[in-house]
Amino acid sequence: MPDIETETLFTGISQLASPGAGQQRGAAMRELTVIQNAAMLIRRGTVVWVGKETDAPLAAHVHDLGGVAVTPALVDPHTHAVWAGDRLNDFEARVAGQTYESILAAGGGIRSTMRATAGASIPELTDLARPRLETLLRSGAATVEVKSGYGLDFPSELRMLLAVQLLAADTPATLLPTLLLHVPPETGRAEYVQAVCEELIPQVAAEGLAAAVDVFCEREAFSVEETRSIFQSARHYGLPFKLHADQFHSIGGTELACALGALSVDHLEASGEAQITALGASSTVATILPGVTLHLGLPAAPARRLIGAGACVAVGTDLNPGSSPLYSAQLALALSVRLNGLTLAEALTACTVNAAAALGLSDRGALVPGQRADFLALHLPDWRDLAYTLGSNPVRTVFVAGQPINQ
Ligand code: NIG
Ligand code: FE
Repeated sequence: MPDIETETLFTGISQLASPGAGQQRGAAMRELTVIQNAAMLIRRGTVVWVGKETDAPLAAHVHDLGGVAVTPALVDPHTHAVWAGDRLNDFEARVAGQTYESILAAGGGIRSTMRATAGASIPELTDLARPRLETLLRSGAATVEVKSGYGLDFPSELRMLLAVQLLAADTPATLLPTLLLHVPPETGRAEYVQAVCEELIPQVAAEGLAAAVDVFCEREAFSVEETRSIFQSARHYGLPFKLHADQFHSIGGTELACALGALSVDHLEASGEAQITALGASSTVATILPGVTLHLGLPAAPARRLIGAGACVAVGTDLNPGSSPLYSAQLALALSVRLNGLTLAEALTACTVNAAAALGLSDRGALVPGQRADFLALHLPDWRDLAYTLGSNPVRTVFVAGQPINQ
C-alpha cells in the first residue's frame, strides 16, 4: 500500500464531522462542527488545517477521498481483549435463567476465564487477541485500551500485560495497557490487597507495563476500602486509576473514584442520583458500555441524566467473553444511541474526544489543527451512517496518523 506523503491535502470529503478538542461535558457534547464539501491538510501525521475545499491551501500532495463523510477515528476506552477459553456455557446458563453474579459467586464466570487464561502462554494469548484487535480497528477504533485482570496470580497478570505490549508493537493502532484488579482470591484477600499495593503496582509502574490501574468494585469483587488502598498505591507510584463501578450495585465506588480524581468510572448501569451528581461535579469521565446492557439484559446506564448533570460521557465496547462479546466500536456507538438515548452528535463525541479523555489523552479525537490525524472515511456521504448502521461496517478506511491502514 503506498504511503500518503508527509504533507497531504485530503479532498472529496462530502461532510467532515467533529467535536471540539478535549473533554466535552454536558450540553457541549452535542456541539459538533459539520463542514460540507470539506478538505483537511495533514502534515507528518497531524491535522494542520480543516475547512471548505474551496478555501483549501496548496499542498505538496492531494488525496481525493471520492465524496464520502469523514469523522475522527474512534477510541475504545475499555476492553478486556486478551483472554483464553470461552464463556459459551455461561451464556447458555444465563439464557436459561441463571444470573451473571450467581455464576461468578459459584466459582464460574470471570473465574473460569482466569483459569483458562492462566494456562495460556504469551504467544497463545497474543494469537487469540490479535484478530479481536484487528476487528476493533477495522470498526474504527484507532486507539484501544486493553486490560489485564484474568491472571490467577501476579505472574499471569504480568504475562497479560506483556502480551499487550507485544500486540502494541505489531499494530498501527495505539494500544494502552491497564492493570485490572478484577476479583480477589477466595481466601487471604487482605494479604492479597497488601501485596497488590506493595509488590504488583510498584513493579508494574517501575517496568512501565501499564498506563493505568483499574479495580472491579462490586459486592462479588473488591470493596470500597480495598479499592481505596489500591488507588492510593497507584497514585503513590504515579499511575492514573479508574474503576468498574455500579454494574450491579452502587456500593460507593463511584463517589470514591470522583473524590480521588480517577480518570473514569465505567459501567454505571445501577447508578442513582448520588453517583450522577458526583460524576457531574467532577472531571472523572462517565464511561458507559451498551454492549453489557444488551448482552446481560441490565438496565442501561443513565446517560441522559449524566449529561443533564454536566458529566463527560464516553462509550466503550467492554469487549470481553462474559458480559460483552462486542467486537465493534462503531456498533457500541450505534447501541449507545438506541439503548442509552444519546443523540447522534453526543454519541460521536462520547466515542472520540471523551473516550480519549477517559484514557488521559487530549491529543486525539477531534479533527482540528494540532490533533493526531486519526480519522475515518466512511462508505457513504453522510456521517450519521456511523450511528445508524447495525451489523455491517459503515467504515471504508481507517487512517492512523494520516496513513490508511486498510483499503
Ligand atoms: O467489564 N464486570 C466485570 N468485568 C468485566 C466482565 C469480565 C468478564 O465477565 O469476563 C466487565 O463487564
Ligand atoms: Fe470491563
